[in-house]
Amino acid sequence: MVVDSGRVYRIEDYRPSDYLIPRTRLTFRLDPDATQVVAELDVERRHGAPLDAALTLDGDGLELVSLTLDGRKPAAGTYDASPDRLLLKRLPVKDAFTLRIETRLAPAANAALMGLYLSNGIYCTQCEAEGFRRITYFLDRPDLLSVYTVRVEADRAAAPVLLSNGNLAETGDLDGGRHFAVWHDPHPKPSYLFALVAGDLGRLGDSFTTASGREVELGIYVEHGKEPRAAYAMDALKRSMTWDEEVFGLEYDLDVFNIVAVPDFNMGAMENKGLNIFNDKYVLADAETATDADYANIEAIVAHEYFHNWTGNRITCRDWFQLCLKEGLTVFRDREFSADQRSRAVERIGDVRALRAHQFPEDQGPLAHPVRPRRYREINNFYTATVYEKGAEVVRMIRTVVGADAFRDGMRLYVERHDGQAVTIEEFVRAFEDASGRDLAQFALWYHQAGTPNIAISESFDAGAGTLTLDIEQTVPPTPSETRKRLMHIPLAFGLLDEEGNPLAWQGAEGAAVEDGVIHVRKRRHHVRFHGLRQRPVVSINRGFSAPVTIAHQRPPHDRLLLARRDDDLFGRWEALNTLVTEALIGAFRTILGGGEPEFAPELVALAGEIASDAALEPAYRALALTLPSETDVAREIGNQIDPDAIHAARQKLIVEIARTNVDAFAEARASMRDGRPFSPDAENAGRRALANVLLDYLAAASDAPQETASAYADATNMTDRFAALGILAHRFAGRPESVDALADFERRYGGDPLVMDKWFHIQATVPGPQTLDTVRRLKQHAAFSLRNPNRVRSLIGAFANANQTGFHRRDGESYRFFAETVLAVDGFNPQVAARLATALRSWRLLEPERQAAARSALLMLAEPEGLSSDLRDIVDRTLA
Ligand code: BES
Ligand code: ZN
Repeated sequence: MVVDSGRVYRIEDYRPSDYLIPRTRLTFRLDPDATQVVAELDVERRHGAPLDAALTLDGDGLELVSLTLDGRKPAAGTYDASPDRLLLKRLPVKDAFTLRIETRLAPAANAALMGLYLSNGIYCTQCEAEGFRRITYFLDRPDLLSVYTVRVEADRAAAPVLLSNGNLAETGDLDGGRHFAVWHDPHPKPSYLFALVAGDLGRLGDSFTTASGREVELGIYVEHGKEPRAAYAMDALKRSMTWDEEVFGLEYDLDVFNIVAVPDFNMGAMENKGLNIFNDKYVLADAETATDADYANIEAIVAHEYFHNWTGNRITCRDWFQLCLKEGLTVFRDREFSADQRSRAVERIGDVRALRAHQFPEDQGPLAHPVRPRRYREINNFYTATVYEKGAEVVRMIRTVVGADAFRDGMRLYVERHDGQAVTIEEFVRAFEDASGRDLAQFALWYHQAGTPNIAISESFDAGAGTLTLDIEQTVPPTPSETRKRLMHIPLAFGLLDEEGNPLAWQGAEGAAVEDGVIHVRKRRHHVRFHGLRQRPVVSINRGFSAPVTIAHQRPPHDRLLLARRDDDLFGRWEALNTLVTEALIGAFRTILGGGEPEFAPELVALAGEIASDAALEPAYRALALTLPSETDVAREIGNQIDPDAIHAARQKLIVEIARTNVDAFAEARASMRDGRPFSPDAENAGRRALANVLLDYLAAASDAPQETASAYADATNMTDRFAALGILAHRFAGRPESVDALADFERRYGGDPLVMDKWFHIQATVPGPQTLDTVRRLKQHAAFSLRNPNRVRSLIGAFANANQTGFHRRDGESYRFFAETVLAVDGFNPQVAARLATALRSWRLLEPERQAAARSALLMLAEPEGLSSDLRDIVDRTLA
């Protein structure tokens, strides 16, 4: 494990390497405790590099067994090997030479899950961002592209399947029951895209013919017996390949595309060239074990990793500061794919909810950083919601600003210009400037400036003159290490509506560029005046969430209710409702803190009943509209002095009120969603289940009795319905026999299936209330739990910390202490997972004073030990700063 060196990496320090490695030949002789790795590197001095330039290869915990240069052992004093680097001095004056480096690894002992490790008996690798240096000494940086040939040797019985990147070149037998395979990848690639898999795996095969007629063999490798559970992932893969051809004109470029599912994986999945490696949670699905949300995730992640083949692999990042170049763009692409495959409005609302839940708190707290950061201590900590989700929003805004046609041309130009290169955000943006003829300099601040911009809007209507004036003001709040902000280019999509929600015509606008339904805010203040209006319009603004900003909009209360009913932009309609409900909850929260009884506006409560029965709205949309903002959402909007218990009480109060008022409409709507059709994971059927299950929760709240939910649990024919019913029983009727029995039944049924047990852990970790800490302590000792498996850690500890406000933020601070101990334990073997977990404390300063003090002492507990990983040290230091 790397102990923190305190070193900070800066974007301005970038310079190209003095040496290139055009070809890399690797041989692996696999063994759990002593794997031999031989790397033969064809090295060339870069044109123009000094003749006496030293060569420093990166390493991380490596053991050098032998080293030769052009076949000879280098003289003592001309090289220096440590676990963390191999330095070669006084290299030959000639331009090219070959290094042969032998290292020895112990994959069975690798619990960090970076580099080469064993997952349930399967050898696999994870190299992004800096894992390749845990395999061999190398120029482990994304701008160093090399053509790889990989020979894998292993015991045939233990590892009949031998995979690496590219196309299969050769296979054969060896003495002693061993065998080998040679893989060749003709596309030069950075080391982070290297992959190897070996083991005894089952395979689901298929094929795909590309638009230009290339036959591609598709394979998904899973544990034996689980092949049928890979069928949906395969289907998603083929749909992704077709979509990228149709929408972006991008075709696959090898004869083979393989996916391997492994149970131990730090992240979701990885886009290694021709050999994607997945957390099995994002591959395996069937009706009995996966929820509709699992299916949707599988579809999105399979697509995401496949789309990286162009946006990431063929065109990669110059350095890790440019991470959003591949991640933000690829998230944008996978979201467009999901929107096309499912419902655009529903996907958009889901994306915005996720952005607000993950990215806004990051951008507004101590870990805030620009989409394209300029500094980092530990790159693993920059795979963030800001780089990914805000990064995707920025790409989306480019499309809004330049228009759909210029966006398509810009993407084409980007691919044409930079195929085979490692590039920067500046080059990406330039492609759109050149394709559109627009200057995107101010717009590009979205990449460089951290913080969520705020927009304040007030309206005035002059009936005599027929003019509406919008006073719009932007502010960008200070963030760590950026106190002074520059003004941004914020594209606000809008509509002016009449009382029926129909578009209202106007004759002209002045005060800002207003084009194609978008107000381009570029100055601090704009007075945008619309002429020729016959009546006062209702303003729908930031339609489709055209810019990732917060908006304070002063307007008649009536307008918001009208938009919540009638806005023809479905995102805007949901947004208006969401704002109304959030404001109602904040009001109730304050009333409860003041010792009073909250009351809710009858129109708002009744609106829920109208929505539930509105057959003009698709069920998935109705389900989203009826899902109240989470306790975390409400806490975020309150902003400071957070008391989670009062938020919980306010939210439950509103749920019960909505449920009791609309009980008949809800019962009827639920019945109409349950049609007895056989399970199908498609979006329409998933939407019907989503609505039925949201309504089941309301009905349980209305009756305050568990029977209907217990029957729903018992009668469930798929995991979506079973899981939903179990969640309601466990959360609403904790400790009642129906709840205890259902939890026991679930454990009996699925005790042997780790992915399903994650759901069981998650549900119990998120039961509201202080007593859940004891449950989590107990479950941590459960036979199906292990701190070594990231999925288990996330579903028990991660869920408790991030999705259980009243349990995690116990007033006495006991949960924080337990959490800090657990994070430290995980840091001992898996720093990446520990650091990610620790970010759950990032908003500690927003808590009320007592909890704030308790959270701070837990952070100090985390900061205390010497020998913390660089990953965890970085997060803890920034969180406390
Ligand atoms: N390249 C990443 C995987 C990765 C992340 C490797 C961090 C090393 C460190 C991959 O393309 C990715 O982004 N995966 C996401 C899922 C995706 C759908 C956003 C993940 O793993 O969470
Ligand atoms: Zn990615």
